[in-house]
Amino acid sequence: MTGRATAEAPANIAFIKYWGAHDLGRGVPLNTSVSMTLDRCVSTCTVETRPAKSDDPGSADEVFLAESDGLQPAPEAFARRVLNHLDRLRCLVDDDVAFRVATKNSFPAAAGMASSASGFAALTLATTRALGLDPSRHELSVLARRSGSGSAARSVLGGYVELPGGPHEEDVYARPLASAEDWELRDVVAVVATEPKSVSSLEGHRRVRSSPYFRERLALLPGRLDAVRQAIEGRDFHLLGPVVEEEGIDLHLVAMSAIPPIFYWTPGTIETLDGVRKLRRDGVEAYSTMDAGPNVHVICRPADEAQVAERLTELASVQRVIRDGVGSGPRLCEDHLL
Ligand code: PMV
Repeated sequence: MTGRATAEAPANIAFIKYWGAHDLGRGVPLNTSVSMTLDRCVSTCTVETRPAKSDDPGSADEVFLAESDGLQPAPEAFARRVLNHLDRLRCLVDDDVAFRVATKNSFPAAAGMASSASGFAALTLATTRALGLDPSRHELSVLARRSGSGSAARSVLGGYVELPGGPHEEDVYARPLASAEDWELRDVVAVVATEPKSVSSLEGHRRVRSSPYFRERLALLPGRLDAVRQAIEGRDFHLLGPVVEEEGIDLHLVAMSAIPPIFYWTPGTIETLDGVRKLRRDGVEAYSTMDAGPNVHVICRPADEAQVAERLTELASVQRVIRDGVGSGPRLCEDHLL
């Protein structure tokens, strides 16, 4: 069997975070999460299949990063995660196939920008299509999650998305809350660091359960979830913003109090958080949130986007600002990387 497909899938920013897992290997979260799928921060992935020897088809798989100067072998740790996921997807067909994969991101990887979400969503969509399959969004969400990246399960849908927590694995797939057209919000990302983070989110999920505040956080989540669902349904930014900001800080509070602690923040993170509070004092309604990394996502309405971007750019520690917003989800493309 030979086939080729290219998919583009967006990153997402969680309003209610997945933090702590029931089953890390299968990406089954402890708690329900809600995210906004982005538009411009995307991973693109091309997958080619060809017949392989039946004794060990996986040994012929190849993984590349598509860089501006051509294809480069993917770094070992990243390639290992991709190869493990390809092994899972290979089981969907009876033929013995080997894969060639090339992937690229439109934004800095591994710096709290959810590159695993977009990367594994794109890999899952491209691989299933290259295998001649046409999974539903529900099936795609489950398959993407089994990469071990729970947030990848959310990136298969556009707009505003909810992913239930475990323990029942079969229930853990993305559900749409509202479409991108329903509510146009923006995410202005203040990039204060681009080097890979020191502790992966996989290790973060493992460690945060040791925080003495982890139970407190879980107890607060049902109230926050209700507020975020209600805000999305009623397009109520006053209701949404403060909850999103609290949630972003709590993720880091339980990380910093884990044993041993995890510090993702840098001085630039603090400067940006302060900058967002100043923006609000000046009458611009914008709220911050962060994933497992130092960069700050600033959520605002379209009318405030330019001012938010301008003010963040003026901060000494902000290296660059990425202007993004809610997007409509993954798509197949004809521009192949292989
Ligand atoms: O999908 P993972 O395993 O990389 O976990 C992502 C977890 C956070 O980004 C920190 C929060 C979230 O819900 O996206």
